[in-house]
Formats: sequence, structure tokens, C-alpha cells
Amino acid sequence: MKIAVLREPAVGERRVAATPETVKQFVSSGFEVEVQSNAGTAAGFADSAFAAAGAKVVPSVGLASVALLAHVRPLSVEVIKALSPGAVTVGLASPASELSATRASRDRKVTAFALELVPRISRAQSMDALTSQALVAGYRCVLEAASLFPRFFPLLMTAAGTIPPAKVLVLGAGVAGLQAIATAKRLGAKVYANDVRAASAEEVASMGGTFINLDLDAADGGGGYAKELGEDRAETQRRLLSPHVADSDILITTAAIPGRPAPRLVTAAMVAAMKPGSVIIDLAAESGGNVEGSSPGEHRIIDVDGGSVTLVGMKDAASGAPYDASRLFAKNVANLVALISVDGSFVPDFDDEVVAGACLTHDGEIRHEPSATALADLDTKSGDK
Ligand code: NAI
Repeated sequence: MKIAVLREPAVGERRVAATPETVKQFVSSGFEVEVQSNAGTAAGFADSAFAAAGAKVVPSVGLASVALLAHVRPLSVEVIKALSPGAVTVGLASPASELSATRASRDRKVTAFALELVPRISRAQSMDALTSQALVAGYRCVLEAASLFPRFFPLLMTAAGTIPPAKVLVLGAGVAGLQAIATAKRLGAKVYANDVRAASAEEVASMGGTFINLDLDAADGGGGYAKELGEDRAETQRRLLSPHVADSDILITTAAIPGRPAPRLVTAAMVAAMKPGSVIIDLAAESGGNVEGSSPGEHRIIDVDGGSVTLVGMKDAASGAPYDASRLFAKNVANLVALISVDGSFVPDFDDEVVAGACLTHDGEIRHEPSATALADLDTKSGDK
């Protein structure tokens, strides 16, 4: 059976869903592997390395004969339609937003595994691409901030004078936020953080950050995620955060609610009250932004009293370190492939909670309830028109 990997078509996407290491693993498990030429070039994996690992490197993959297609970004409807019924896909599928692709997978009888749906349980951690990619994004956004900040991060005591450490504030201390805290700490900054989950104070402290307690009730949703705050609580949170934002040199925002737009934590007025030279990195820019005025892929210079503040809407953050991001991502994919295969054949066991949880479509059905409902609603609305 053939596993295939395409060159990611999205502009700015530099990652690849397999590496020579995972190709070797597939080949030794009895699969044939086809890799589209230059699929890994932007990430630092040459065609020759894929070939040496046992893959056939081809200018274009014949999709009709592919048994499993590994991908990073959600597949296009066109690619899904070119697969044969029964084919398996493994990668990020953005089930909440890519409803047309979900429909195409259902109608084509493709078995689609969405890495976003991998349950957050210990046994599934090795397949959790949201975690592995958030880790890379958290690291990258601190480096971005450090390169734009006109000052040092660490305290420096020199013969020419003492330089105080930078103050970094991280809002949203999940996987990316915790990695941002750890990275900023290693660079020598004083790091503060806030999150709405009950466990976050301890998690922030374990990374060496100081938790800012706003005395608001915790807002835990299911599966380790937060739940959305009502508008009153959100307003209170913004008011209580205001002095901390004004006092920070670097603001990194990573707050997210699964399937919802990013919560608005910082208003334009809060930005205007920051010190000149401060840098804001909004990692949630692609899902609506935690900071008013941020836009994915844009650097904005905002005038404040005495100078300006740089506001960066991060885009493709994990692609900013494509080699290691791809290594982790490809391992997540390979671990899921190992779970659903025996001796070079795919035999997903849907009684396994990881397999069942990660499956978006199978045999003409949408298995992920929220996606099935969202698609039915969409179809009803378009039928009404
Ligand atoms: P995420 O990307 O959905 O959200 C990022 C962070 O934003 C979360 O910590 C969330 O609490 C926070 N947030 C949401 N609304 C906020 C607001 N109004 N103000 C401040 N912060 C807000 O979540 P992520 O990073 O994917 O995971 C969150 C947690 O899930 C982790 O810290 C960990 O405890 C748990 N987890 C468990 C795993 C497992 O058991 N396999 C794997 C990965 C994470």
C-alpha cells in the first residue's frame, strides 16, 4: 500500500508532513512511499534524503492509487476528490472551518483523520500535533519579539552601567504560552502571565513565570481547554489586565477557545497606554486576534506618547522553524499511522478512543458530531436560499 506526501501548496507554508526518518519507519512497516519532489526543500529535507530513506520521489503523485495521504494544512476539495474511495488522510483538517473539505471527504468515502481531534489523553500525546506545533510557535514568537525590541532581555551589569531586564507579559498560558514563558525566561527577561484555567497558576510557576492573579473565577471547558467568558467577565478581565499591559515591555498573546474566535484581551486604548519601544506579538492573529488592530502577517507601528509600539500579527508561526516543526509534526503523523496499521495495511480499530476521536469522516459518514451539525446547518441555510 502506498503512503504519499505532497508539497504543501499554501503560500508561506514551509513544513512537510513526513521526514526521511518517518519515511524509513513507513518503509520498514511494509509501505511504499511516494514523495512529491521539493516537498521538504523549504523545511530543509532534500529530495535525495527522502530517496535515501526509501521513498520514490516523483514530480507529481498519482492520487488515485494512494492508500494514505499525509498532509500539514487542510486538503483542498480538489485533492480529496482525486483520491479513491477508502483512501485515508492524516493531517490538520481545521474541522470547524473547512466544511467543504469535510463534505468532500464524506462524499468521496475517504477516511479522514484530523490531528486537531486527537483526544488530549496521555496515550495520545505522541500524536498531538496541536501541542507539537504550539510549542514551536511559542518559541518563535519570543524570538520575533526579541529581534524587534530595541533593548536587551536580560539584566546586564557592565562597567558602563546597569541594564534592567525586560518585562514580558504572556496572556494565555497554554502550550504556546508556556513555551513562550520558558523561552523568554531563558533569554533573561522577567516574565509574568495570566490565563483563565484553574491549573494555569501552577503551570506558569513551573516554567519560572510569575502568575498574575486577577481574582476572577476560573473558566475551564472540557479536555484541558478554556471556555469562553461572558462579555461582562471579558470586560472585567481587560480592565484588570490594563495596568499590567501598560507596565510590560513585551506582550505576547496566545489565548484561544477551541472552535471559537480568539478572545479579545487587549483593546486599542490598552495598546496606546504602553511604553514607547514596546513590542506586541499576537499569536492568535489568524483566529481573529487577542489584540485589537492585529492582522495576520502584518507589522503595525502604532504611535504612543513619546514614540511607537510595534504590533505583530503572527502568521504561520510554526513554519518559522520549519525543520523542527516538520520533525515533530511528521512524528505525530507516523505515530497515528502506526496506530491504524498492521503489516503495511490500514486496519483502524474504531473501538480505540484515539482512533474514533481523531476520525473526521469514514465510509460516507461524518464521525465528528460538531462538524456533522455545522455542515447540516450550512446545507439547510443554502437550501433555504
Ligand atoms: P488553546 O490553544 O486552546 O488556548 C491557549 C490558552 O489560552 C489556554 O491555556 C487557555 O486557557 C487560554 N485562554 C483562553 N481564554 C483566555 C482568556 N480570556 N484569558 C487568558 N487566557 C485564555 O489551548 P492549548 O494551549 O492547546 O492547551 C491548554 C491546556 O491543555 C494545556 O496547558 C494543558 O494543560 C492541556 N493539554 C493537555 C494535553 C494532554 O493531556 N495530552 C496536551 C496539550 C495540552
